[in-house]
Amino acid sequence: MNILVTGGCGFIGNHVVRNALLIPGVSAVVNLDLLTYSGNLLNLEDVNDERYSFVHGSITDSHIVQKTLQDFDIDVILHLAAESHVDRSINSVQPFIETNIDGTRVLLESVVSASSSGKKIAFVHVSTDEVYGSLEPDEHSFTEETPLNPQNPYAASKASSDMLVNAFINTHDISAAITRCSNNYGPRQFPEKLIPLMVLKAKKGEQLPVYGDGKQIRDWIHVEDHANGILSTMLALYMGTIASGEVFNFGADNEQQNISIVQHIISRTGANLSQIKHVTDRPGHDRRYAMGYQKAKAILGWKPEIDWEVGINDTIKWYMENPDWIRSIETGEYREYIKEQYKS
Ligand code: NAD
Ligand code: TYD
Repeated sequence: MNILVTGGCGFIGNHVVRNALLIPGVSAVVNLDLLTYSGNLLNLEDVNDERYSFVHGSITDSHIVQKTLQDFDIDVILHLAAESHVDRSINSVQPFIETNIDGTRVLLESVVSASSSGKKIAFVHVSTDEVYGSLEPDEHSFTEETPLNPQNPYAASKASSDMLVNAFINTHDISAAITRCSNNYGPRQFPEKLIPLMVLKAKKGEQLPVYGDGKQIRDWIHVEDHANGILSTMLALYMGTIASGEVFNFGADNEQQNISIVQHIISRTGANLSQIKHVTDRPGHDRRYAMGYQKAKAILGWKPEIDWEVGINDTIKWYMENPDWIRSIETGEYREYIKEQYKS
């Protein structure tokens, strides 16, 4: 099986690339990544496997997408490339429309084009729990049947791309599945997201900006569990044990308030509670997400394996013990390195 991962230099993508290389029968893992601000070649620097290739380019470029599919005789696309940060989408939605919607359109059209030349390519579209909107405190977790009700521009762009995938399944008979996961945590997440941002600021003695009352809830899952959920979906789709059009939710039964995570980070980093600063809330801030994953458990045999207490402490430790990675991001050095390597 030859796999194309889009966005493999990002937080989740690098874990997917590594774990895909562990699957028996995988002959190639190709990573197509534009190396935007959150794409980091250092994230895969330790991968030394001749089956792994990196292609520098955008999913919005149909020429490079089609050439990559042909050059590597790709059988499956795991589509993760995206603009992924809600706050950025509130400030500027255009890149979200371009990458998340139009980029997905280019990939889908390329799958159709390959199919008309006799090559079937399975497509796993990596989406998010945010497409379902926000839950009230006493509401049941989201299921795959929950109607899409995105509440911020990022979530709307992801929901749009989900709809495009469904439309291509229906009209072009492509083989595709959609995965929707709750908030991920773990090593190598760009430090604009809650957990790495707070660890870095706590360590430096800086203020910790908690939006509003900090009582918003997310269902935190370790990135390795999510990566394995994506790969389980891929195998089921490729082997034909699930039909095209299936959706799988991944969660971890791990609802945590933001403020309690920040307090925990303070306790593990030797920081001080006085560093917490309640700042103006995010506009339209979703209050609560929680994912029911019974379908993934029943059909894929998937369940989250990493315990929160162990996972969060290891994650905090990773950010404390990898100063080179942090420094490279903080100084922008990782981008200089990219420019040197990919001058074209
Ligand atoms: P990330 O921002 O860390 O990584 C995104 C990657 O995509 C980067 O490597 C970036 O360079 C690449 N990219 C961006 N635009 C591109 C383009 N036009 N062409 C090619 N590559 C491009 O994001 P992440 O947290 O790893 O998220 C990956 C996927 O998982 C996204 O689709 C996101 O919606 C989804 N997801 C994320 C979470 C989470 O908690 N982080 C939860 C559920 C779903
Ligand atoms: P984030 O990591 O941006 O993920 P998402 O918005 O996709 O859930 O944020 C997680 C939660 O933490 C969310 O409720 C917003 C909150 N948050 C803060 O309170 N302060 C911050 O500086 C950031 C980045 C997030």
